[in-house]
Amino acid sequence: MADSAVRQDGAAGGNRRDFLELVAWSTFGVGTLAAIWPLIDSLNPSAAVLAVASTEVDLEPIETGQRITVLWRGKPVFIDHRTEEEIQMARSVDLDELRDPEPDEARVQKAEWLIVIGICTHLGCVPLGQRSGEPRGQWGGWFCPCHGSHYDTAGRIRKGPAPRNLDLPPYQFVSDTLVRIG
Ligand code: FES
Repeated sequence: MADSAVRQDGAAGGNRRDFLELVAWSTFGVGTLAAIWPLIDSLNPSAAVLAVASTEVDLEPIETGQRITVLWRGKPVFIDHRTEEEIQMARSVDLDELRDPEPDEARVQKAEWLIVIGICTHLGCVPLGQRSGEPRGQWGGWFCPCHGSHYDTAGRIRKGPAPRNLDLPPYQFVSDTLVRIG
């Protein structure tokens, strides 16, 4: 089973949504990968490291309302421990209003955990909204400043040039608090 360590950025407590940077140790295939986003540039992982097929993430330390980013196959994956309000926002949408109609229920395995690939589907920028204080766009999800795409709390495109919702990585819950991505 993979080990993980989490560092919390900024003050914790209350309902404040702090950003966690998670160090994911993957043990699939040859070698072991230590991956921290956004330090990927400085780590400069080899192609073999980027090909690691799966990453296990311990969800236990992630409080309701917090978001973390982990790296999987060289891509940022956003994990959002959604609040009840965010879930209701995602589920009260008229699908006819959506550019890429998808019910929230089809985008999550557990309502409180949204897991999406953090790459804008327009031209590939990493949207803002993971760190505390960053803009989350008009629908409270993520905002891509490159050309102004807004995503909602289900990671669905709501405004701007992005053609589709944030992609979903393959994943499965190994237990209530452990998820394997890939
Ligand atoms: S890359 Fe995100 S809006 Fe263009």
